[in-house]
Amino acid sequence: MKLKIDPERCQGHGRCYDLAPALFGEDDEGYGQVLGDGVVPANEQQTARLAVANCPERAIEIL
Ligand code: F3S
Repeated sequence: MKLKIDPERCQGHGRCYDLAPALFGEDDEGYGQVLGDGVVPANEQQTARLAVANCPERAIEIL
């Protein structure tokens, strides 16, 4: 599983990095960013799905 944020869709709601701080961070303006290469370790996959489901803009994709 690998994550990607669509920068065109992200509006900076911040739920991704609140819910899954091991997977997402924020840039200087509060927009979400995938940490590292976006590959999700096995023990974080449920958290990743939670973040995807909670983004109001549906900006997070699972590749
Ligand atoms: Fe952006 Fe969605 Fe996160 S709008 S900051 S990707 S919760």
